[in-house]
Amino acid sequence: MIPVFRPSMGDEEVRAVERVLRSGWIGLGPKTREFEKRFAEYTGAECAVALNSCTAALHLALKVMDVEGGEVITTPMSFISTNHAILYNDAVPVFADIEEDTLNIRIDEIERLITRNTKAILLVHYGGHACDMDPILEIAHSKGIKVIEDAAHACGGEYKKKKVGSIGDATCFSFHAVKNLAMGDGGMITLHDQDAAERIRRLYWLGISRGTWDRSKDKAYRWEYDVDEIGYKYHLNDILAAIGIVQLEKLDRKNARRREIVGKYNEAFKEVSWLKTPVEKDYATSANHNYVVKVLDGRRDSLIEHLAANDISAGVHYIPNHLYDMYKPFYRKLPVTESVWRQLVTLPIFPDLTESEQDYVIDKVKDFEGK
Ligand SMILES: Cc1ncc(COP(=O)(O)O)c(C=O)c1O
Repeated sequence: MIPVFRPSMGDEEVRAVERVLRSGWIGLGPKTREFEKRFAEYTGAECAVALNSCTAALHLALKVMDVEGGEVITTPMSFISTNHAILYNDAVPVFADIEEDTLNIRIDEIERLITRNTKAILLVHYGGHACDMDPILEIAHSKGIKVIEDAAHACGGEYKKKKVGSIGDATCFSFHAVKNLAMGDGGMITLHDQDAAERIRRLYWLGISRGTWDRSKDKAYRWEYDVDEIGYKYHLNDILAAIGIVQLEKLDRKNARRREIVGKYNEAFKEVSWLKTPVEKDYATSANHNYVVKVLDGRRDSLIEHLAANDISAGVHYIPNHLYDMYKPFYRKLPVTESVWRQLVTLPIFPDLTESEQDYVIDKVKDFEGK
């Protein structure tokens, strides 16, 4: 079976983990700090704080932006973490419709939905394709509203030649098993505000004011600490950070391979009349986390079945979140989202997809035409 996603790991990651396991320090420590530093340098952010998931990152990014009790304008076209993070903060998700081509949140919808209670705009760079950030930041900042980016798909992606992670008020990344930078589980918040970063460093370990590593380095272990507020158990550890450091070194190369795969799919499918290939706008250099086509004649589910019968996994990203049962209280009619999601199919894409595997996927998709 060809999977939709597959992590790409090598001997370097294995050796990096081995070194940490033998070092005597496997928890939150020097490797995590090194990973944060390198990630900040890579993205061009002033600060980067590592966490154990993007879900945790979204929770804390919204928390330090003080959204509690307010409204957060958000997209339904995401994994459910995005919108659960709003609810974790006792804020109200206000769903905006999306662009038919990029599947990103629509700017005119953002403008229309802003009220006196809007505290933040939470964006997803769907599939690794950046939202058009300049107009969004202009609208938001002119009204004192924060912009938080869910960049779970967009590690290594760019907006107008700037790396995603250096742009909005806070950007949240996922290093989950099949993400562009993968380490099993992990996350990062990049931001420009040192005070907010320091608060996140307390919140990720139960509100404790100084972590064990910070209390131990350069001196004997010191046992005392204070607790400033209720925090969570959200920090990363050095075993995963060691994988992250190696994966970060490989990221641009792996993303270049993703770009090649996308180019070949786009070329192969350009004459297929019942299928629309993804777009890339001038302002974006996509990280190509996923490869999502639109099946135009209402046969999306039959294509998925046809591929499965030929040992190819295909997915749907996503069921729009406002259609989930527990999100009914926040339902708004979103015409584009509600029609376009029924066309979406995610085809296999991962850096180690071989040429012959990709040729096989292309053949089987084209095969479907006559079925
Ligand atoms: C858009 C989006 N946001 C958030 C997440 C959550 O990431 P994590 O699994 O690291 O918590 C995911 C994970 O798939 C995602 O795709």
